[in-house]
Amino acid sequence: MGEGKNLVGVDIGSASIKVCQVKDTKKGIGLLRFGYAPLAPSVIVDGQVMDAGAVTEALARVFHDAKIKQKECALSVSGQSVIIRKISVPMMTESELAEQIQWEAEQHIPFDIKDVRVDYQVLRRRPEASQMDLLLVAAKRDQIEEYANLARNAKLKPVVCDIDAFTVQNLFEFSRSLPQDQTIAVINVGASLSSLNIIAGGVSAFTREIANGGNVITEEIQKQLGVPYEQAEAYKCGGAASPDDPSRPGIVPHQVVQVIEAVTDSIAAEIQRSLDFFMATSGEGEIAKIYVTGGSANLVSLAQSIERRARVSVETWSPVERLSIEAKEVNAQLVNQRAAQLPVALGLSLRKEREVRA
Ligand SMILES: Nc1ncnc2c1ncn2[C@@H]1O[C@H](COP(=O)(O)OP(=O)(O)OP(=O)(O)O)[C@@H](O)[C@H]1O
Ligand SMILES: [Mg+2]
Repeated sequence: MGEGKNLVGVDIGSASIKVCQVKDTKKGIGLLRFGYAPLAPSVIVDGQVMDAGAVTEALARVFHDAKIKQKECALSVSGQSVIIRKISVPMMTESELAEQIQWEAEQHIPFDIKDVRVDYQVLRRRPEASQMDLLLVAAKRDQIEEYANLARNAKLKPVVCDIDAFTVQNLFEFSRSLPQDQTIAVINVGASLSSLNIIAGGVSAFTREIANGGNVITEEIQKQLGVPYEQAEAYKCGGAASPDDPSRPGIVPHQVVQVIEAVTDSIAAEIQRSLDFFMATSGEGEIAKIYVTGGSANLVSLAQSIERRARVSVETWSPVERLSIEAKEVNAQLVNQRAAQLPVALGLSLRKEREVRA
């Protein structure tokens, strides 16, 4: 952890923007300000920003409505423009490594090295083999720039840009601490992406992003029931409001339940393929436990399907478990309603102004 004030955590997800401003408390994290703004499905499609103006406008509005004065913020990127690999390189000193890393990275990254920003962490030194293991992270500069510009255009000052998976891991570590003698998996299932991070002995050992998430469920409900997006989304989230009394949830057709079960099971199947790949190639021990979070973790059938397929105990992890609300400006009901969707925004809000890591 760095020094100074916490940055405002800004998660630009494909379905909504989540913004958290926090301070450290004795027991955990104290929420000072909270902002949430849904994005129309056409604004960010499959991780691509299609309507930058709409994102910038929503960002500025969220900061204004949530009464956030601080402009310094932390952002994160995810998706296909991010590559995380565990690699081995010959033993060398820190300064040699800093010089060599671009060249080493080039061997492992399918993009032109000029187009990516490379970061790394030394995982293990193995002098007996004259080798050291690194976690190599590369993110495309144009995506980082694109996200930073969205923030700048909303009059914000982006200070750090992290990776979704690491942000979630940071928050998990803060909240639960990472087991040093076990392998666990943390899965963040959002609207367009499901990201899997396998953490062995406290270090990320494997990450993968699956282009499947809550959107696929909503689209399938739209298709099968012939209803518009809003109605399908409402059905999925527990029932559309009844036309006679909008405060009462309506009845969810049985078909909706079937769609939810089928799609969550297809997500679970893809996760299982990644777990199998990891088990077959990593040489790490069995996965002891799987944690699911993200907006789509609200669907109980997701954890059930993953548990059934993986035969590993699955827990739905709430990112707000160490969070207390510390200001009257925070809409507690909204935080509660959106709790599962906050691992990235809250993880980012733990970042400090003066940190060496970019
Ligand atoms: N109560 C609920 N029941 C079912 N699904 C829900 C519920 N609440 C939110 N979701 C779904 O969760 C998804 C949004 O989650 P989240 O905010 O984590 O995604 P995102 O960060 O915007 O998207 P991504 O990370 O994929 O770009 C949407 O598909 C939404 O329909
Ligand atoms: Mg997300």
